Amino acid sequence: MDVDIPSSPGKFKSEKPHHHYLRLLLRWHYSSLHKFLCWTIVAAIVLFVLFLASPNLSSSSPASLHSSSITERRSLRTSSSSPAWGDPAWEKRVRDSARIRRRPFGISVLVTGAAGFIGSHATNALKRRGDGVVGLDNFNDYYDPSLKRARQALLSHSGVFVVEGDINDGPLLRKLFDLVAFTHVLHLAAQAGVRYAMKNPGSYIHSNVAGLVSVLEAARSANPQPAIVWASSSSVYGLNTEVPFSESHRTDSPASLYAATKKAGEEIAHVYNHIYGLSITSLRFFTVYGPWGRPDMACFFFTRDILAGKTISIFQGPDDATVARDFTYIDDIVQGSLASLDTAQKSTGSGGTKQGPAQLRVFNLGNTSPVSVVELVSILERHLKVKAKRKFVKMPRNGDVLFTHANVSLAKKELGYHPNTNLQTGLKRFVKWYLEYYAPPSGSYLTKKGRGGGSSSS
Ligand SMILES: NC(=O)c1ccc[n+]([C@@H]2O[C@H](COP(=O)([O-])OP(=O)(O)OC[C@H]3O[C@@H](n4cnc5c(N)ncnc54)[C@H](O)[C@@H]3O)[C@@H](O)[C@H]2O)c1
Ligand SMILES: *[C@@H]1O[C@H](CO)[C@@H](O)[C@H](O)[C@H]1NC(C)=O
Repeated sequence: MDVDIPSSPGKFKSEKPHHHYLRLLLRWHYSSLHKFLCWTIVAAIVLFVLFLASPNLSSSSPASLHSSSITERRSLRTSSSSPAWGDPAWEKRVRDSARIRRRPFGISVLVTGAAGFIGSHATNALKRRGDGVVGLDNFNDYYDPSLKRARQALLSHSGVFVVEGDINDGPLLRKLFDLVAFTHVLHLAAQAGVRYAMKNPGSYIHSNVAGLVSVLEAARSANPQPAIVWASSSSVYGLNTEVPFSESHRTDSPASLYAATKKAGEEIAHVYNHIYGLSITSLRFFTVYGPWGRPDMACFFFTRDILAGKTISIFQGPDDATVARDFTYIDDIVQGSLASLDTAQKSTGSGGTKQGPAQLRVFNLGNTSPVSVVELVSILERHLKVKAKRKFVKMPRNGDVLFTHANVSLAKKELGYHPNTNLQTGLKRFVKWYLEYYAPPSGSYLTKKGRGGGSSSS
């Protein structure tokens, strides 16, 4: 599943990272109003973007069920003031970023959602091994965009250009494919999160359905056609009770709109593979965590709230059943994603005519050992050296499932996928990153008194 146990839908607290480049970045609040007609029609989405300058996102919200205020403001904005694409300097940046340094086997990859959690890690890994890579991201404010900007700054430092734009912008995608003969697309841009769908269903249709089609349209028209690897989700298993989840299990009973859009994506992938000869691999990620993670996910907001001395809510199923997740460390997910790119066969429809059947694959990428959320909290307490204030609450019926467990034998066999980071180790690295990133410049974090209760340090 994607998001996780209790939701923390409010604005994410604006602890200021002390990386100096971040101070240079302005923070804006945008609010927008999405209208979408009907998702089977997938018609017009009207977007009004008002913006109010507001340098500080100061409201912090506890990870409680009752704090779901202020989310109206968080409706998504799409792109903002990026340099006009098409000008020669912009084109040069795209080409430079796409340059392959690893010959003869290097690939050139368009990574959508590159300023996101998984996207930034995958992009960085590709660049480090010498592949050409161009990012695309709309920097929407589903969660604190300054985190996305910080990831972008790191990528920029290693020579990766993340284009600011929406995957629904067909002309922009065509321009990118005109400039670069991408061999692969790693499509990770999406509206993530399970519970947010009840607030803003249109954003899921916009990014996960219409956006996916837009990316596949650009890919099938490109010459040569790239191979596609994209992020589905373990949430497609929905109400399936057979465990561990295998790729051959039924996925026709999704429990959230998010899951339904990912399932729809897998079906859409089938169509583009069948008609246009696109080589497509769908990856079902299981609850990914690690440094630079998403603020709307359990590891992150439990850490934040434990440090702030706030009571955290732990969900329980019927009969006090514990909620457990197959938490998967980011490096393992990156390894599986790159292995998917490396084993992807070429698309067969370049030039507009399908030459023969193309590859179509689905893989679970999980960790294969579910851990209860109670255990997750205990591990965090040990790493943070702060006692958590717990509260147990009934899990609301809003899309999350009780238990996820991946069978990854197919990915082992076909991709050489070997998840080898357990939750202990992975959380240790996450906590280390969190403390460094959000510590006040003075470093007072590490003093005994500074821990846990500080309003400045969260
Ligand atoms: N993190 C998990 O546990 C998990 C689990 C299962 C599946 N997934 C999937 O993996 C992918 C990456 O997830 P993540 O955790 O890195 O999330 P993320 O939100 O950090 O990254 C997604 C990025 O895509 C961008 N984006 C969203 N809509 C866009 C649009 N219309 N145009 C351009 N950019 C857009 C966002 O700004 C964001 O930076 C997503 O498809 C998600 O659904 C994640
Ligand atoms: C895992 O999936 C494989 C097929 O990929 C199957 O052969 C195997 O029996 C499954 N294992 C379990 C424990 O269900």
